[in-house]
Amino acid sequence: MTLRRLLSIKLGDTPHLITPDNVFAHRDLTTASSLNEARKAMKAQFFPVGLLLIQDTQEKELEALHSFLDVQQATQWVGVFPAELIKNPLCRAMIAQHLFDFHTWPIDPLRLNHTLGHAYGYADLVDQPHITLSSPRDMDLVGNSAAIAHLRTHIRKVAQASAPVLIWGESGSGKELTALAIHQHSARAKAPFIAVNCGAIPASLIQSELFGYERGAFTGAAKEKKGLIEAAAQGTLFLDEVGDLPLELQANLLRFLQEGTINRVGSSTPIRVDARVIAASHIHLQDAVKAGQFREDLLYRLNVLPLNVPALRERKEDLPLLSKHFFKLFEHDKNPRITGFSHRALQAIKAYEWPGNVRELINRIRRAMVMAEGRLITPEDLDLPMPGALRNGEALEEVRIRAERDAINVCLQGSGSNVTRAARDLGVSRMTLYRLMEKHGINA
Ligand SMILES: Nc1ncnc2c1ncn2[C@@H]1O[C@H](COP(=O)(O)OP(=O)(O)OP(=O)(O)O)[C@@H](O)[C@H]1O
Ligand SMILES: [Mg+2]
Repeated sequence: MTLRRLLSIKLGDTPHLITPDNVFAHRDLTTASSLNEARKAMKAQFFPVGLLLIQDTQEKELEALHSFLDVQQATQWVGVFPAELIKNPLCRAMIAQHLFDFHTWPIDPLRLNHTLGHAYGYADLVDQPHITLSSPRDMDLVGNSAAIAHLRTHIRKVAQASAPVLIWGESGSGKELTALAIHQHSARAKAPFIAVNCGAIPASLIQSELFGYERGAFTGAAKEKKGLIEAAAQGTLFLDEVGDLPLELQANLLRFLQEGTINRVGSSTPIRVDARVIAASHIHLQDAVKAGQFREDLLYRLNVLPLNVPALRERKEDLPLLSKHFFKLFEHDKNPRITGFSHRALQAIKAYEWPGNVRELINRIRRAMVMAEGRLITPEDLDLPMPGALRNGEALEEVRIRAERDAINVCLQGSGSNVTRAARDLGVSRMTLYRLMEKHGINA
């Protein structure tokens, strides 16, 4: 039988009536008589269960214990307290937030043994990787907020129709995931889902990529080639960043939406293609229409079924679930010592505004999972400020500089290092962005 590891922390003048025979039998026991000793022991190895033996504790010591437990959330804690201490509000809050269970002095060894047994059982349970945080019904969109529930309902509805869908949402908010969910819930689910990022294909190539070409259509066209629209036949064509489509191609796309036919480059024979179009944009296309960069008639054609993906800051209640989801998703990459997020990290995650949305959350978590030094990810590992706090000794000017640098990094990440798009998102000219990148030593 393998011994189960137990850390017992004794604080105050505890009458140590617990003996190895009555409670600690069959346990690999480590004892600590202060929080510092406990920290050292916990640095050296992981304890699934911890026992807190508390006697005559002052308010200050309770506060220290509270902060200690704040960062030791991967262990299941069982406390033993004097009955009168349970009346103390701080003690009650600590029990509610951090303890698996508690007893009062004098202890009943048999009952305490039972409790510890349950705590081990629970520790095993939460350690099982197969426990998924999202149910299979909820598409791949993780979240329990009202905003996500609303989005799921809309996805199911528009999946039943065949008219074009226009998805609007900030960079990294989940537009592509939403388009895929529509496809997967539609009658076209078994046919291809072809995603095209209109902003990423060079203007000179985009027409032949989308519409295909005939043999001899241009130098180098030795063989005919189907375009991406034809590749999506019977399925769904997802046009991401549709606002980046050059004006002349907008006319071709409009024709496809109106008549259901395309012409390959170099051919005058129309080809009928049955593909459902879902388009997405992170800019308001109405503004692009006003600026003469987007055809109004195309906007009306695309915007039959509009869908909004809410920004992450509008569904902050989903942040703990999303964070844990990504932690599990990238577990294979992580430093094996890291077991989860500290309470402070979750607070900082909730307080932050997430300008780069889910994509930024993923990036920060992945980086922290590789870089964190301790067992639990801290706000510092995520490079997030603690709510309302300046970092140690940081002056206002430094906070401004850091905020500027963070905003630039986020927009560059969100645009796939496309400086023109990042500058647009930041509301500055390209020249200004280049100057700021140089100032902060950022490479695109
Ligand atoms: N609710 C969610 N649950 C789980 N993963 C999500 C969720 N929303 C977004 N993601 C993930 O976040 C990343 C960004 O999402 P997606 O690519 O769909 O966003 P986008 O709005 O298309 O971004 P961009 O504007 O940069 O093109 C993807 O890896 C996606 O799987
Ligand atoms: Mg996208």
